[in-house]
Order: sequence, then structure tokens, then C-alpha cells
Amino acid sequence: MARPNTGREQWSSKIGFILAAAGSAIGLGNIWKFPYIAGENGGASFIFVYLICIAVIGLPVLIAEILIGRSTQRNPVGAFRKLSGSKFWIGVGGMGVVSGFLILSFYAVIAGWAIGYIVEAVAGNFAHYDTGASAALHFQSLVTNIPWDVGYFTLFMIITMLFVFLGIRKGIERGSKIMMPILLVLLIVLMIRGITLDGSEKGIEFLLHPDWSKINAQAILIALGHAFFTLSLGMGAMLTYGSYMSKKDSIPSAALQIIILDTVIALIAGVAIFTSVFAVGLDPAAGPGLIFHTIPAVFAKMPGGYFFSILFFILLSIAALTSAISLLEVVVAYFVDELGWKRKKAVLILGFVVFLLGLPSALSFNVLSDFTLFGKNFFDLVDFFASNILLPLGGLLIAIFVGYVWGFSKVLASLREGAENLFDDYPYIISTWKFFLKYLSPVLIFIVLLRSLGILDLIF
Ligand code: PFF
Repeated sequence: MARPNTGREQWSSKIGFILAAAGSAIGLGNIWKFPYIAGENGGASFIFVYLICIAVIGLPVLIAEILIGRSTQRNPVGAFRKLSGSKFWIGVGGMGVVSGFLILSFYAVIAGWAIGYIVEAVAGNFAHYDTGASAALHFQSLVTNIPWDVGYFTLFMIITMLFVFLGIRKGIERGSKIMMPILLVLLIVLMIRGITLDGSEKGIEFLLHPDWSKINAQAILIALGHAFFTLSLGMGAMLTYGSYMSKKDSIPSAALQIIILDTVIALIAGVAIFTSVFAVGLDPAAGPGLIFHTIPAVFAKMPGGYFFSILFFILLSIAALTSAISLLEVVVAYFVDELGWKRKKAVLILGFVVFLLGLPSALSFNVLSDFTLFGKNFFDLVDFFASNILLPLGGLLIAIFVGYVWGFSKVLASLREGAENLFDDYPYIISTWKFFLKYLSPVLIFIVLLRSLGILDLIF
């Protein structure tokens, strides 16, 4: 039964929250980043390490973030103001809002390309690719075309704004309930297409063959860093979504379901992509190259490729959209809660600000391509600063806040709401969470941060 909406909006059901949060988690990170880093860093061995990272850091920090949001029913800044009041912790919330602005500004550029590629797929423009190189050339001609590059970025921002504009239930929850099942079906269709191609087993081998010799400190840190990005942790997205959650629902069980969905989707994406890439005899490439060069060339060679290429880019656009919505919601929630803006006004103004901030990222592939700092263009700089520094720093501080600052008896009392059975029947699960959050997560996240800052390289 739908729950009444009194005062601040709330999700209409637990599943509404889970799908919206899983929508935030499942994004470009799952579809292009995870398959590649898994294949490169030891296949099944890497996946094993990654699963441990998700369990030891991902789950505890995810629970902590949702808990802060649900207890305070506020955006990141308001939440820390309510729980602590100290300028330092309010600043940590502020850092989350800034991260939301920054990540969305470059994320929407790649997402725009995904939409542009739906149009390319429909127009049949992949059919003439014979190698990854001709696909790369076509990609290059598109991203250096400013109206194409900026145009699709703008379109993607407008679509994202539309969902946030409509609010929690009518926009974000309804959108997630429609888009997440579509995403899952598309991915399963693509996986079945991949594994039924001749030679697909080489792709499975690439993704799943265990190679323990590749598991070194570097691979473990990559797994840890990715666990953070893929679960949307460290910047208050899950905190903000948690702030619309009912106190009747269990946070640990919701968090577990979000994590399972995110991980399963990443694995299916890996199987779908690599079975196809290897079956047609191409080499997997890294990052955006995998999606925008290799994959279109793969579809050019595959039976039914015209149809499957359209499905693939719809899938990619949906995955990016539900993540982008959560990024914009963090920023909007701050202006609505703290500054008293109306949601609609906040979406229009802040969406425009993100657009302005994203322009130099969009232009990094054409007019601004020569502008570099520390060897990175504007796009890479914003990505690096937000994803590799702000997210781990935010996650570290969130773990410390819940583990040490908030007051653990209050933390437990709040977590208990909606999860009484878990507390009564499985108290050791709660004590394990406490141990991970207080001791393991902060230490491991700190090491990830040192690596991002290059400090580990100086020591070793
Ligand atoms: N989790 C998203 C992905 O894997 O693509 C990225 C992301 C979304 C990060 C929202 C952070 C965030 F707040």
C-alpha cells in the first residue's frame, strides 16, 4: 500500500527506495569500467578481491550513509548540522554537495555520447566498421564536432533535470521503477546474444580465468577504489536518498539488496561485453574506448548487430541517467532544505549551473584539447579530483563520523528502527558491522586516498 506523503517527501515503498538507490549505483562504472578492470587485473581472482572489498568497506559505509540520511531526513549539509553542528562536519556535508556538482558535470558528457550513439545505431552508422580503428575514427569525428558533443550533453542534462523536477515519488521513484527493469532485461538479452556467439568462451576466459599472480597491492587498491565509485559512496548520494526513507524499513537489508543488484549487473555486463568482443575477434580496449570504439565495431560484425547495438546504447543511457539523477538530487536537496528554494526553481537553476561547469569538460575533446594541467585535460582533472580524492575522503570522514563522533549508542538505536529482528536474532551481524566500520573501513579507505594522492608511490 502506498504510504501517505506528509511534509518532506518519502519513497512510497521500500522497493521504490531500493530501485532508486540501485539506479544510482548502477551506472557507467558498471558497464564500462568494471568489466575492463576485472579482465585486466586477474579475472576471477580480481572479482574475488572486489567482492571482499564490497563486503568489508562497501556495505558498512553504505549502511552508515543511508543511516545518517534517514535519521536526520536532510541533505548532507543539513544532516551533519543536525547531528554535530560543528563547522568541520558541516563542511564535510558541503564537500558532498560540491562533489555532486563536479561528478555530474563530466558524467553527463559521457552520458550524452551514449544518447548520441543510440541515434548513430538507429541510423545504421556502425555497419561499415571493419576494425576498431575505423570505429575510433568515427568517434573522433563525432566528439570533435562541437554541436554534436555539446548538443547531446545538453539533451542529457535536460532529461536528468526533468526527473528531479518531478520530485521524489513522481519523478525519481517512478522513473527508477520503469527504467531499472528495462535495464535488467536489456542486459540479459545482450548477455544471451554474447554467450550464444561462436567463440564466446574466450571472453568468459578473459573475464573469469583466475590469475592470482595479478593480485598485488595495486589491484587491491583498484578494487577498493572502484567499490566506492560504483556504490555512489562518499558524497552523500546514498545519504540523500536515505533521507527520503521510512523508519519502518530495514537499512541493512535494503543496503544488501542494493549491493547485490549492483554487483550482479556488473558481472552480467562483463559477460555480455567480453563474450561479444572476443567472439568477433577484437581486442578489448580500456575505458571509453571499449564502449565507443570496440563495441560499435563488435556490433558491425555480429549477426543481428544492428538491433543489438541500439539496445546496448539504450542500456548505457538508462544506466547513466539513473545515476545522474541521484547526483543532481544531492545538489537540489541542499538548496531546498537549507536555503528554502522551491524544488522546481532549484532544478532549473542548478541544472544550468552544472551545464556551465560541464561545458569545459565537453569541450576537452575538441577546442580545449590542448589545455592540460599535470598532464590531464579539464575533463580528466575534474574526474580525478572528484572520483579519486573527494569520494574516498568523504567516505573516510563518513565512516569516522558514524564510528566515533555521532555516539555509538545513538547510532545503534537509529539503525535498530525497522531492523528489530536483525538486532534480536542476529546480534553478531551488527557487531561485525561495527567492527568493520570503526576499524577496517577507515584504515583501508585512508590507504586508497594515499594512493590517489601519489603518496604511496613516494614511500615505496
Ligand atoms: N555509481 C555510479 C556508477 O557506477 O557509474 C557513479 C556515481 C553516481 C558516483 C552517483 C557517485 C554518485 F553519487
